[in-house]
Amino acid sequence: MRMYDVIEKKRDGLELTSEEIQFFINGYTNGDIPDYQVSSLLMAIYFQDMTKDERANLTQAMVESGDQIDLSAISGIKVDKHSTGGVGDTTTLILAPLVASLGVPVAKMSGRGLGHTGGTIDKLEAVPGFHVEITNDQFIELVNKNKVAVIGQSGNLTPADKKLYSLRDVTATVNSIPLIASSIMSKKIASGADAIVLDVKTGAGAFMKELDDARDLAEAMVAIGNKVGRNTMAVISDMSQPLGNAIGNALEVKEAIDTLQGKGPDDLTELCLTLGSQMVVLASKASNIEEARIKLRENLLNGKAFDHFKLFLESQGGDVRVADHPETLPQAAYKIELPARTSGTVSEIIADDIGTAAMLLGAGRATKESQIDLAVGIVLHKKVGDAVGVGESLLTIHANQDSVDDVKDKLYASITISEHVTEAPTLIYDTIT
Ligand code: URA
Ligand code: CA
Repeated sequence: MRMYDVIEKKRDGLELTSEEIQFFINGYTNGDIPDYQVSSLLMAIYFQDMTKDERANLTQAMVESGDQIDLSAISGIKVDKHSTGGVGDTTTLILAPLVASLGVPVAKMSGRGLGHTGGTIDKLEAVPGFHVEITNDQFIELVNKNKVAVIGQSGNLTPADKKLYSLRDVTATVNSIPLIASSIMSKKIASGADAIVLDVKTGAGAFMKELDDARDLAEAMVAIGNKVGRNTMAVISDMSQPLGNAIGNALEVKEAIDTLQGKGPDDLTELCLTLGSQMVVLASKASNIEEARIKLRENLLNGKAFDHFKLFLESQGGDVRVADHPETLPQAAYKIELPARTSGTVSEIIADDIGTAAMLLGAGRATKESQIDLAVGIVLHKKVGDAVGVGESLLTIHANQDSVDDVKDKLYASITISEHVTEAPTLIYDTIT
């Protein structure tokens, strides 16, 4: 087989066979096929798209390019949740213990974050003592015993995706549905879950700004998952404004603690119930969505979800006293209010600008090497649709620097107060199965 012929075939809009896709993925991963030929193929895919079979074959070839995690020693149907990423997205911290409290095994492999805040592991490390440096055997034992554990990403997972993603980044081929969908799904599938719930975000703070694009991506990922034998569904949710009120690592842990006790922000609670009920049904721990939702809500209110969170922290070395005393989490030196300059209704809070402001405070990493400050961030007091009076605080800035004028300017620019009444945005746009 020659790479030239594979490129020519895709250029002319023909369907590649599974063998041709494996040939280029294997050849690229082991260095036999050069960047310039793969770049050319990626651009052909960008313009010619891929069929459902091609997308599934590409995903499977990327999965097989590296290690695959074997979770078969864990009993039950392992369900994973993946979000395409947003600002202040605290759902994983809540969902993992919440669905585990209903017996759903959650074997979470997680990374450190790049962007506005840290990833799930960074956030959990705000709890003194909590660590993810456990062996694979310990991980499996913990999930069997407690139904929930988190381990750091290790091993050589989807090396083909790593190489392709770097190449796409410099060849203007990131923004392609078949390439994005196969990239995300290959990582999820290699991580070993039996079933996958996807939270595809749309709006200013999302990768997919437009609803139609988010829907296309969700449909593409669901089709891939189901074709390669993993029960997959997707929820399309709003990321025009940040999710919940807190943006920042320790601040989001506090928000998760509140939510696990039934006292969380409405939008965050609702999204957790929506995603959680899908997870519970996929894991066969409820026969339908309504029943799952009732059980989840019950465990938020009766303390079982919160107790499960403590069990989860404790089993990985975390100081559980933090759960009852969140004021012992890392605290910023300065708490600065942002008063409204006019009265009216909040009509816009641009999620990615709020995320950038949190990053400027030190909550996120600009590069892989950056150190993050777990204590800093932003807590919103108003969301879109809320009325506000002059001088009322829109949000609190938690900072470890005394001058935050640049951050304040950025925050004022990202929040619009209108004279007209504005409705809160739709939270859940669609469910794709
Ligand atoms: N996230 C991924 O993991 N892959 C993509 O291609 C785009 C976003
Ligand atoms: Ca939040």
